[in-house]
Amino acid sequence: MQKVVVVTGVSRGLGLELCRQYLSEEAKVYGCCRFPEQSQQLLELKRSAGYQFELVPLDITQPGMIHNLQYVIEEPIDILINNAGIYGPSGLSYGEVAVDPWMEVFRVNTVAPMMVTQALIEKVADSQDKKIILMSSKMGSMGDNQKGGSYIYRSAKAALNAVGKSLSIDLAGKGISVGVLHPGWVQTDMGGANALIDTETSIRGIRKVIEQLSLKNSGQFIN
Ligand SMILES: NC(=O)c1ccc[n+]([C@@H]2O[C@H](COP(=O)([O-])OP(=O)(O)OC[C@H]3O[C@@H](n4cnc5c(N)ncnc54)[C@H](OP(=O)(O)O)[C@@H]3O)[C@@H](O)[C@H]2O)c1
Repeated sequence: MQKVVVVTGVSRGLGLELCRQYLSEEAKVYGCCRFPEQSQQLLELKRSAGYQFELVPLDITQPGMIHNLQYVIEEPIDILINNAGIYGPSGLSYGEVAVDPWMEVFRVNTVAPMMVTQALIEKVADSQDKKIILMSSKMGSMGDNQKGGSYIYRSAKAALNAVGKSLSIDLAGKGISVGVLHPGWVQTDMGGANALIDTETSIRGIRKVIEQLSLKNSGQFIN
């Protein structure tokens, strides 16, 4: 049966490549992003994929848009990938951290993935694969933090990891497994040009990890 994959943040970077690779596997893909008409690469992919690829306007900070997803996406969802994320203001030192940008990053990186998941949970539960992915980062790890700084991004991803762990426990009864993944340091707008790997390599690895995700390793952070 054709898999249904839903991805957030598909205008560029890892989200766009997730769509490209799942489309090449013949999945039906719903790509969600704020301004689909502004990404030329996304529109090109849509032109070549046709009905297999649905573009869904979604700002993950807007509760009404998240609520509507359950009506826009009609089929059961095999894989829900919460990929959209922001870094927030970069280069802030101790003493420069402010409340508003921190709240904004928390809203996008931590709160929104939970809200999207809550809105679509029954559709995931009705599917064959029943998988939910949270795109996290090693920057959220305590053990990996050797450099300090990055208070905003690090804390938002650390909190996302906690969300993933609780989801894995709460959703096990529905047969849903949850993957909390680090995609590598990847050449995107966020990762920058000096990052270690390209999006194609990262997403090839991510797809393998998602394939191997099960109730046995649900909730684990996987690099
Ligand atoms: N690149 C890395 O090295 C790296 C490492 C670890 C983790 N990650 C994580 O991987 C994920 C993807 O990162 P990336 O490198 O592909 O970043 P990116 O190139 O900056 O892309 C981020 C995506 O998120 C979308 N987005 C941001 N705010 C949004 C909102 N309010 N509503 C909907 N979409 C929104 C952006 O859409 P717009 O075009 O509308 O802004 C864009 O499509 C993120 O969660 C990031 O934290 C990346």
